[in-house]
Amino acid sequence: MKKIAVLTRDCAGVNAAIRSVVRTSSDFNMDVVGIMRGYDGLIDGELIQVSHRSVSGIINRGGTILKTSRSQRFYSENGQKQAVKTLHDNDIEGLIVIGGNGTLTGAHVLATKYKIPTIAIPATIDNDIAGVDLAIGADTAVNVALDALDKIRDTATSLERIFIVEVMGRNCGFIALNVALSGGCEEVLVPEMNVNLDGMCNEIKDGNEKGKVSWIIIVAEGIAKAHDIASIITKKTGLETRIAVLGHIQRGGRPTATDRLLGARLGNYAVNVLKEGITDSCVSFKDDKLFTIPLSVAIQPKEIDVDSYYRLIKILT
Ligand code: F6P
Repeated sequence: MKKIAVLTRDCAGVNAAIRSVVRTSSDFNMDVVGIMRGYDGLIDGELIQVSHRSVSGIINRGGTILKTSRSQRFYSENGQKQAVKTLHDNDIEGLIVIGGNGTLTGAHVLATKYKIPTIAIPATIDNDIAGVDLAIGADTAVNVALDALDKIRDTATSLERIFIVEVMGRNCGFIALNVALSGGCEEVLVPEMNVNLDGMCNEIKDGNEKGKVSWIIIVAEGIAKAHDIASIITKKTGLETRIAVLGHIQRGGRPTATDRLLGARLGNYAVNVLKEGITDSCVSFKDDKLFTIPLSVAIQPKEIDVDSYYRLIKILT
């Protein structure tokens, strides 16, 4: 394999993975091109030459130096054929994509329908890739949210208030559960569980009558809006609430050491397996071991052990 390309979505640690892909390829004397703006850039042929030197000084930067897009055009057969033409016209023999569920689904199409040798590196704050313990970006997202939560706790405790904090994660409760447990929160609502709002409101009311005045409730965006939960609590308990929607700050920021290490290891491994002829797979890392998962498996919904998180959150409250 003489020439490969790399395409990305954005989250903290993606630049570390790009750096690792580029430098590993150059160690193998392979050329690498960067595809700008994700699948849209692949359709439009927006390629840039990347080299060992051009990825200097990016390991500590959030986002992606290659920029990205949520491509609508790649859903169509026309868009896909145009993307494949870009790869063939530029003598690109293999592709590495770095991103979440949507990016991996696109990679699966390229690998199976168009026979493009393709390897995916999981990178998503949602951490919803099946078979992947920890995707790049998820650790930073939890830490960014936790940092914000600690600040909210300062004022919540001082003013004896109930706060509802909404975190990202699409249909996955990973960020919410990890923030709730590591932030010492009283309650968490995630898409993977049956929510009992009446029970929660009764608990808040009882607690309040016994003198408990401050509560922090984490709501995953996939289950409800913080604003709606706040209205229900106020209506059912008569207590005042405040909300904080953390939003996109969770996808940015300086990557943690964990995300940089994942970027370095998975980037290097992705190039190695692509060169060995493996395709239609996602790389992963667990218990000090690197391995691949078929993309058809990685794009299925990921199961998360909500019960054990929830039990512990309630015991420790
Ligand atoms: O998939 C990552 C994610 O940040 C989700 O947690 C969130 O629902 C979504 O992307 C937001 O998408 P956008 O940046 O397009 O608004």
